[in-house]
Amino acid sequence: MIPRIYIPGDSGALALGAEKVAKAIASELAERGIEAKIVRNGSRGAYFLEPMVEVATANGRVAYGPVKTSDVKSLFDSGFLTGGHHKRWLGAPDKIPFLAKQTRLTFARCGVTDPLSLESYKKHGGLNGLTNALGLTPAAIVAQVTESGLRGRGGAGFPTGIKWKTVLDTVGDRKYIVCNADEGDSGTFADRMIMEGDPFVLIEGMTIAGIATGATKGFVYIRSEYPHAVAVMNKAVEIARKAGVLGASVLGSPNAFDMEIRVGAGAYVCGEETALLDSLEGKRGMVRAKPPLPAHKGLFGKPTVINNVISLASVPVIMDKGAAFYKDFGMGRSRGTIPIQIAGNVKYAGLFEAAFGMTLGEIVDEIGGGTATGRPVKAVQVGGPLGAYFPRALFDTPFDYEAFAAKDGLIGHAGIVVFDDTADMLKQARFAMEFCAIESCGKCTPCRIGSTRGVETIDRIAAGIEPEKNLALVTDLCNTMKFGSLCALGGFTPYPVMSSITHFPDDFKPAPVRVAAE
Ligand SMILES: Cc1cc2nc3c(=O)[nH]c(=O)nc-3n(C[C@H](O)[C@H](O)[C@H](O)COP(=O)(O)O)c2cc1C
Ligand code: SF4
Repeated sequence: MIPRIYIPGDSGALALGAEKVAKAIASELAERGIEAKIVRNGSRGAYFLEPMVEVATANGRVAYGPVKTSDVKSLFDSGFLTGGHHKRWLGAPDKIPFLAKQTRLTFARCGVTDPLSLESYKKHGGLNGLTNALGLTPAAIVAQVTESGLRGRGGAGFPTGIKWKTVLDTVGDRKYIVCNADEGDSGTFADRMIMEGDPFVLIEGMTIAGIATGATKGFVYIRSEYPHAVAVMNKAVEIARKAGVLGASVLGSPNAFDMEIRVGAGAYVCGEETALLDSLEGKRGMVRAKPPLPAHKGLFGKPTVINNVISLASVPVIMDKGAAFYKDFGMGRSRGTIPIQIAGNVKYAGLFEAAFGMTLGEIVDEIGGGTATGRPVKAVQVGGPLGAYFPRALFDTPFDYEAFAAKDGLIGHAGIVVFDDTADMLKQARFAMEFCAIESCGKCTPCRIGSTRGVETIDRIAAGIEPEKNLALVTDLCNTMKFGSLCALGGFTPYPVMSSITHFPDDFKPAPVRVAAE
């Protein structure tokens, strides 16, 4: 049998040198006259081990990583094509602790299969969910998704089944499924990873959504900073269309569903669902007032399901294994699994899919291994740039929508960014206000003007000018933004600002030097 070598084509792995490693392995194969098949798989998400090269041996796959081009010759000399020992040897990939501790439902195939092989997708359970869905009525599919407890993974955690039911129950001559792949949150990469590593799962999820709600057309809105994901998704859609997964007769059924990939406009606010719809329609991305809900009047005024990539990519496993199977994972009202993206100053950065319920401390200290610098963890921002900063004192908070909300935080898209004790939380609070000022769509005053005033006021605190009065002013401003903004950009910026002030008050005390300078 020809040896198979897996080298990730995922852009995270490419950023760490996977392309150079692939070229070095190909030329070494040629030089040694060895015939082998190189598969460009997705990443398994253990980025601290990328580029992670795997070989298929008689005893299963064996991983090596992080591989550098300078390792390639010695890998061949060590007999890595048959799993030989080498300093980069990691053993069976699914036994690597970071991967072995995970519950991979949505990401089950990511890093395992060839992303653009529909055969490989089917061999690993792909299309089972869609096949099952085709045997059900739309209402029965919606009932399964509702019963599974799946909530939107884009940020707000809204129950997916309820959203789908609204679209199913709304009359329209045309309905749409829109996939939100704008993924603008700091430290997040789950959407990108799945689009590059297992694109068919998203296509399958969107097709199921179409059949469930009566929509015949889908759009994936992918941020412009993701050219690799755009390329993979375009190819996958073409393959799916040729194979009859998409088109006038989905898998030979009377149902029609097709889709297109669109590149985003490059603004954070275009991830907000209504601004995204404006952008998709070719306009400047401005937030729309609700009602009407997109489910009633969405893209081009038609009933529209708008869901995050991970929400949609989690549907196939639900339709394959059943709502009860999925619902069995998790805690409270947070059911199933969530791909936690561990980033920032952390030793083991990567994607960790787990059932809801792990504590923040377990995620940061045990899975993430603490900081990369080796210094104490000072703060963890959970949920992107609009998420709160949690101190170590809140590390017992379980990863659950309600538990985070109870502590004035949010899970958002499940990105966590770790900071060590050198972080200046006043600067982080200022950054949150500045980010809001830069990214504001400008529609409402508390966000457009408030964020700029927020930056100025925090600067005055930093300069030691009437710190107590200015702190009270920032708090007041945050309340105005929280309750007076039209969308969560202005409405949630107070979370990082107020959590910094509440949990790290020392960073807001005037430094003697600053006072002296006044
Ligand atoms: C400023 C802003 C940016 C957002 N960015 C994203 C994003 O990049 N991706 C995403 O899925 N949702 C984003 N959202 C949330 C969406 O508005 C919406 O809730 C989501 O797409 C719904 O899908 P879900 O129910 O599957 O989560 C953003 C919201 C706001 C207010
Ligand atoms: S809160 Fe900000 S981003 Fe949202 S609608 Fe208002 S101005 Fe636009």
